[in-house]
Amino acid sequence: MKELHPITKAIRLQTERTLEKEHSTPLFLTSSFVYDSAEDMGAAFSDDTLDVNIYSRFSNPTVDEFIAKIAALENAEDGVATGTGMAAIFGVFMTFLKQGDHIISASAVFGSTHTILTKYMPKWGIDYSYFDMNKPESIEALIKPSTKMLYVETPSNPGLDIIDIDFLASLCKPRNILLVVDNCFATPAVQQPINFGADLVLHSATKFIDGQGRVLGGVIVGKKELVKELYLFIRNTGPSLSPFNAWVLSKSLETLHIRMDKHASNALTLAKKLEGHAKISVVKYPFLETHPQYAIAKKQMSSGGGILTFELKGGLDSGRKFLNALEMISMTNNLGDSRSIASHPASTTHSKLTEEERQAVGITPGLIRISVGLEYVDDIADDILQALEKS
Ligand SMILES: Cc1ncc(COP(=O)(O)O)c(C=O)c1O
Repeated sequence: MKELHPITKAIRLQTERTLEKEHSTPLFLTSSFVYDSAEDMGAAFSDDTLDVNIYSRFSNPTVDEFIAKIAALENAEDGVATGTGMAAIFGVFMTFLKQGDHIISASAVFGSTHTILTKYMPKWGIDYSYFDMNKPESIEALIKPSTKMLYVETPSNPGLDIIDIDFLASLCKPRNILLVVDNCFATPAVQQPINFGADLVLHSATKFIDGQGRVLGGVIVGKKELVKELYLFIRNTGPSLSPFNAWVLSKSLETLHIRMDKHASNALTLAKKLEGHAKISVVKYPFLETHPQYAIAKKQMSSGGGILTFELKGGLDSGRKFLNALEMISMTNNLGDSRSIASHPASTTHSKLTEEERQAVGITPGLIRISVGLEYVDDIADDILQALEKS
């Protein structure tokens, strides 16, 4: 058969059909695997080159199917799956950084990533420097001989800042610095950072990859030699993805592209409707021309994705009133669901940051993040508009 398009692979890549002749992919809900002989069992442990399943902390066919689909979509050679997005991020840091190393990270990163960088890494002698996503020209001066990794989210959570991955790769490649991109907000349906020079791409699969707010998961993809190191770390320390969650996530990938198209068209319609509203000072969405990095978004993303933010002129108090007035949209801190979600980062996901740190990454008291769902777009807009009236 000819080489299939990645979109088709996300639908058609499947664990080998069993004797039951199932159509949907099977779920191998098993902790361990059996051997035909004592010799085979011995070989499974002694010969690292054998491609056999031993124990589901190491590998599992359902988890491998999920990894293969993500790797195909991200144009990566291989991958490793983890129980959560944070386990993927922590696994990358722990595998590739050691005492005395230095990491440069965007300051606009997810709250728990910030906690790992600022609270735990210094405890183990790993130094970090932050840069402002809006000042990429400041990165070069932060590079030291001990710098081993450059870490970004693009678009960032929740500020939707965007950075030129191509430019970052041009800084990293000549210096052997690993470029790691958290691609959670865009998903591989919208952006493939490896095509712009990223070394490793990771996801909280909990978000758009699941797409229906059911299970937690994480995944990291990249070159085979890097993935091998990561695999050994995950296999030995244990944050492996459960086969059940992998099955749910793998089935979700069959609809990823069609879902992301609809999330993005709903989000763009909504962003345009909200622009200029009397209660709102600014609407931010990657594919609005007013976005500060609109040109970069257009270059590296195929749509603006499913998240938009806006700033309420009335600040914290208006933010609370707005959330309390919503009738349909869910008030929860997850994102990337078929159901629209409103959240208030300053009082939830980023509450551990100091006021100064929040200001530095654009999390103002009145910032509202909308994860735009798949509902009929006028119903989403009407709920936001009526809540704005009461805010
Ligand atoms: C950009 C980003 N990265 C990582 C994570 C962490 O993922 P998880 O909750 O699956 O551990 C999140 C969660 O919200 C996120 O938004």
